[in-house]
Amino acid sequence: MSHQIDTQTATGVSPADGPVAVTGASGYIGSWIVHDLMKQGYRVRACVRDTSKSEKVDHLLALNHTVLRGQVELFAADLFERGSYDGPFTDCCAVIHTGATVGYHNEPPQQVYDACFTEVRHVVESVKKAGTVKRFVYTSSFSAAWHHRPEGYVFTEYDWCDDNIERYKGAWSVENVANRRDIAYAMGKASTERMIYETSEEDGSLEAMAVLPVHVLGPLMCPNHDQPQSWQNNIKEMLQGRPFEKARGGRMLWNIVDVRDVAKAHRLCAESPAARNGSRYILGAADRSGELFTFQLQARLKELFPAIQEIGGEEMDDGKPVKKSFDSPRAYCLLARQELGLSTHPVNETLKATGDSYIRLGLL
Ligand SMILES: NC(=O)c1ccc[n+]([C@@H]2O[C@H](COP(=O)([O-])OP(=O)(O)OC[C@H]3O[C@@H](n4cnc5c(N)ncnc54)[C@H](OP(=O)(O)O)[C@@H]3O)[C@@H](O)[C@H]2O)c1
Repeated sequence: MSHQIDTQTATGVSPADGPVAVTGASGYIGSWIVHDLMKQGYRVRACVRDTSKSEKVDHLLALNHTVLRGQVELFAADLFERGSYDGPFTDCCAVIHTGATVGYHNEPPQQVYDACFTEVRHVVESVKKAGTVKRFVYTSSFSAAWHHRPEGYVFTEYDWCDDNIERYKGAWSVENVANRRDIAYAMGKASTERMIYETSEEDGSLEAMAVLPVHVLGPLMCPNHDQPQSWQNNIKEMLQGRPFEKARGGRMLWNIVDVRDVAKAHRLCAESPAARNGSRYILGAADRSGELFTFQLQARLKELFPAIQEIGGEEMDDGKPVKKSFDSPRAYCLLARQELGLSTHPVNETLKATGDSYIRLGLL
């Protein structure tokens, strides 16, 4: 049975309203979302593609044997399979959609775009079919807000990735998605945001909101979270004394948010009376202390892990960066703190917990 939202009295969900489904639940962020929901006492429907892959699900099932008050149950579902979310979403009060092909395994850009946008219609169809879902929380990305801006520009939730597409010199087009992973990802995330806000507005019975994380770091729950090319994997490589190679010369501004805070923000979106259809929340540093150039991050890791002999990072000469880094992206999780009441981990705690988890899991 579908319910209409009274915009005067709209409120979020609570554990008493029914289970919450999480797609991509086996992933780095998804797993912490499951953990956070269980801490609050929710029954969680964890959607993964293959429930028999122990390396992806054992850490989730183990949560049922901890002090966490909630429970987790596994469900098999795939974005590319229409109707596969019908079962797990039945009777759910909220759905948190975090599953996506991120491109960690060099998947073709078209596949990234389809998993980030085209196939999300299957998730939305199942949400509507359930008829009980009041909140749909989507893991978008800061990529959906980032666009070419001068150094020092502070991005906010008003920014969209297609704000000045002329800078792409005609390359920003659906036809070009197959050739450019960056366009595929950003366009996919932004298109999904717009689609879910419009669909929810038309539907009238649910509200959709999105979180837009920047560089997510923090503890890994299992070895499978060490995905190649992920930010956490880049930290591991630096702790192994290897250079940071994702950016030219290793020069980048790291805008760091803790994975546990990202998880909590998803739940707060589902619960908060302040979040409304169309609300979007950038999840980056709380303030400038969480924004570090690679050479600063390198120095911080040295302080936090004094036993490690050599820590890699950017190109240095005589203890100084060889070149100046481009001062971007600056962005903060101010709105999430103000509207959702999100509290955040200090960056040193996040960095320490990241490295410690690699050591604990025997990956370093
Ligand atoms: N990490 C970051 O810094 C960051 C920043 C901004 C946004 N994000 C977004 O956050 C979300 C989670 O990212 P993550 O870093 O946690 O990545 P992740 O560890 O790779 O998790 C993504 C999960 O999505 C699932 N998935 C992949 N393809 C799927 C498909 N076809 N159908 C259903 N599920 C599928 C996978 O689970 P199974 O293999 O078990 O199905 C995987 O565990 C993504 O939407 C990503 O775009 C991440």
